[in-house]
Amino acid sequence: MSYDVAAVRRDFPILSRVVHGKPLVYLDNAATSQKPRQVIDALVKYYTEYNANIHRGVYLLSQEATEVYEQAREKVAKFINSPGFESIIFTRNTTEAINLVAYAWGRGNISAGDEIVLSGMEHHSNMVPWQLLAKERGATLRFVEVLDDGTLNIEQLYSLINGRTKLVAMTQMSNVLGTITPVEEIVRAAHDQGALCLIDGAQSAAHLPVDVQQLGCDFFAFSAHKMLGPTGVGVLYGRRELLEEMPPFLGGGDMIMSVSLREATWNDLPYKFEAGTPNIADVIAFGEAVDYLARLGMKNVRQHEKELTAYALAALGELGPDIRIFGPRHAEQKGGVISFEYGGIHPHDLGTALDYEGVAIRAGHHCAQPLMERLGVPATARASFYLYNTKEEVDVLVSALKKARAYFGDAVRTA
Ligand SMILES: Cc1ncc(COP(=O)(O)O)c(C=O)c1O
Repeated sequence: MSYDVAAVRRDFPILSRVVHGKPLVYLDNAATSQKPRQVIDALVKYYTEYNANIHRGVYLLSQEATEVYEQAREKVAKFINSPGFESIIFTRNTTEAINLVAYAWGRGNISAGDEIVLSGMEHHSNMVPWQLLAKERGATLRFVEVLDDGTLNIEQLYSLINGRTKLVAMTQMSNVLGTITPVEEIVRAAHDQGALCLIDGAQSAAHLPVDVQQLGCDFFAFSAHKMLGPTGVGVLYGRRELLEEMPPFLGGGDMIMSVSLREATWNDLPYKFEAGTPNIADVIAFGEAVDYLARLGMKNVRQHEKELTAYALAALGELGPDIRIFGPRHAEQKGGVISFEYGGIHPHDLGTALDYEGVAIRAGHHCAQPLMERLGVPATARASFYLYNTKEEVDVLVSALKKARAYFGDAVRTA
């Protein structure tokens, strides 16, 4: 099982770009992915042929737009095996999806003395909303620690979850270490104590097959832009019974059934949580992205990235004692995300030097400052792969790193 990577690459116009005179090697996919022509074309087609507001129009354009928008929701539902379209809420991104839960579920269900369990490798998106909620309600946050090998201390998870735990909110794949967490086990541990479980799927939905029914999670949040789709679209999957009980997050048009001067009643799911004109064009284009991923097959995507990651871990390892790779060293345990330090060169300098070789990596704290503290560094360099990356690109990364080491070498040694 696999796919033709060369053919896939031809679908991504940006991959033939030249930067600083060198072919682009795009290795910042954990931040956002590139978009295939099919997704770009869907945006152009919507604006060229049937741009109209949805759900309210009696005319053909509006009906066409509504139909394709709702088809995208059905595609997303199928992609993560949601039992129905009612559980799929379109948001702006993962961050908004998590905030939706923190506000609409959290404000009604968390009170003084309650506990929320997170991990030390969470993205700020899955930390700050819970900090705000906990402060407001007098609740306590507990954290599962990150072990030296970049995995979670699962033994500790069991001791942290107790009768006071109302929610466990955890990532399925770290955006810094690449670590894939045992989410099925985490969900079971939460449910055994009567707590709910939210999974941050911002990284995992793009790179692993996801089945929310198999995971058994209560909420699952992810972003279109990391999985070939446009920016400005996120998804919150929620168990229907929970969403039914939750009050709206934002009030306004579309989310109501009826409004009088002083009161309103709420629309059916999922519309109760989609106030105002949604991001119609980008949701429609996201539908194309989901089709694209489904055509390739997420098992094949995972397999391709696993091989690439194993290759990259070996190639980077050959750079010797000068390189420090953070997180799991086996591709089985991680997605295609490799954070590293090299030769004592500041990650930002490394990122700039690599850019001149055409290689786009990320340098910084990756919106995970508590994890940086745990690793004992202010920042890391990070290369992250996607379904269109190749071993040849990994080779370019490695030779660009060697070149940077040669350039900065003396400065670093005398610093
Ligand atoms: C693990 C994880 N969670 C949440 C987010 C937030 O995603 P967004 O910025 O699309 O809301 C990211 C983005 O990098 C992420 O990697």
